[in-house]
Amino acid sequence: MGGDFSQGVEAKMGRKAVAVFGSTGSIGTQALEVIRQEKDRLKAEVLVAYSSVEALLAQAKEFRPRYVGVLNEEAAAKIAREVADYSELVVGGEVFSLVDAADIVLNAVVGFAGLEVTVRAIEADKPLALANKESLIAAGELVNEKLAESKSHILPVDSEHSAIFQCLEGRDWDRESTMLILTASGGPFFRSKKAELDVAGLKEALAHPTWSMGPKITVDSSTLVNKGLEVIEAHFLFAVPMDRIKVVIHPQSIVHSMVEFKDGSTIAQISRPDMRLAISRALLFPERASSPFGSMNWPTDQTLEFFQPDTENFPALDIAIEAGKAEGGAPCWFNAANEVAVAHFLQGEFQWRTIADILSLSMEHYGSSKPSSIEEIYDLDRESRRVTEWLIQKIQQR
Ligand SMILES: NC(=O)c1ccc[n+]([C@@H]2O[C@H](COP(=O)([O-])OP(=O)(O)OC[C@H]3O[C@@H](n4cnc5c(N)ncnc54)[C@H](OP(=O)(O)O)[C@@H]3O)[C@@H](O)[C@H]2O)c1
Repeated sequence: MGGDFSQGVEAKMGRKAVAVFGSTGSIGTQALEVIRQEKDRLKAEVLVAYSSVEALLAQAKEFRPRYVGVLNEEAAAKIAREVADYSELVVGGEVFSLVDAADIVLNAVVGFAGLEVTVRAIEADKPLALANKESLIAAGELVNEKLAESKSHILPVDSEHSAIFQCLEGRDWDRESTMLILTASGGPFFRSKKAELDVAGLKEALAHPTWSMGPKITVDSSTLVNKGLEVIEAHFLFAVPMDRIKVVIHPQSIVHSMVEFKDGSTIAQISRPDMRLAISRALLFPERASSPFGSMNWPTDQTLEFFQPDTENFPALDIAIEAGKAEGGAPCWFNAANEVAVAHFLQGEFQWRTIADILSLSMEHYGSSKPSSIEEIYDLDRESRRVTEWLIQKIQQR
């Protein structure tokens, strides 16, 4: 339900009013850098975080959004008085109604918790700049059904999907293309020997060579789960069959992804790794940012290497792709199992290789299902988390 937040949308003044869900995270703060640079075209109308209220208050002081949202009610109480000088404070589940106050919604929440933002933005007919891949992995078929009945559309923020979006702009995938090629940096362990991987832990997994990101996606990148999730994301975003999406390791992170066309031509999107480029492409579409993010310095940045993924040392990539191919509830189950395994890994409870072991075991406990509503997606997510927690307990008792 929620209040009526649809009044006073900024578009009237020629600026797009942006609702940033997850404004205190890695994507959220970079989105605010884009908004700062593009202040004649973008306005931070809504800023929402879970509990990082000090950071949120500092953002409110600078950007003066109409609304500030805090999911965690206890945390919200800490800033209630001060934030009132700049913005209206909205607390708890009511924050999701703030999609109504924007011209475009940026979903930069981490994990399955972002599903509510995705669904509410689509139901409110708002363009959705989507960084939160987990909502599409968990509920891709249902999200696409909702999109078909809505005036909303998705603008990808993940750099690989932004790249494909740019390569395909104005082109018809069905008629012209044969293959999507998603690039992966390979993460911190790309050049590691098997013996090093056997003893790798949290510190090593968090040392990403090319991207600075939040902790969950950094771990996902180290296991190549992130790339598996992105294959599923591309499948749902671009309506491309899973077997027409290929992964290649590209350690320089300069080619962000490619589309191969029927005549043998391949179009790639190239830039230095800088998420502000993909964020600005989504927020400003169809226009582009007025000054560059991540531009190349030709011919200095000219080393481009490509490798086959090592699925023996990184088995989680195939586990994710198999879940995507199984369709129905399998990607949702996989996503939840991964979130649970990564949360325990981030607490330092086991070594890096155990993540893939847990994923493999958890998928063995997935039966088959075809969720037909968002409520059934929530039920399946809960069940996967319950089973995966139980498996982790068993592993830890050994
Ligand atoms: N970082 C990147 O470069 C990158 C690149 C491509 C795609 N992505 C995707 O973008 C999303 C965000 O990633 P990130 O790296 O920016 O994550 P992050 O740095 O961990 O930030 C997560 C944000 O989500 C908020 N949040 C956490 N739990 C929440 C909950 N239960 N409900 C609502 N909000 C919650 C956090 O608020 P608090 O600060 O209050 O906890 C924070 O603002 C992920 O889906 C990721 O896969 C990220």
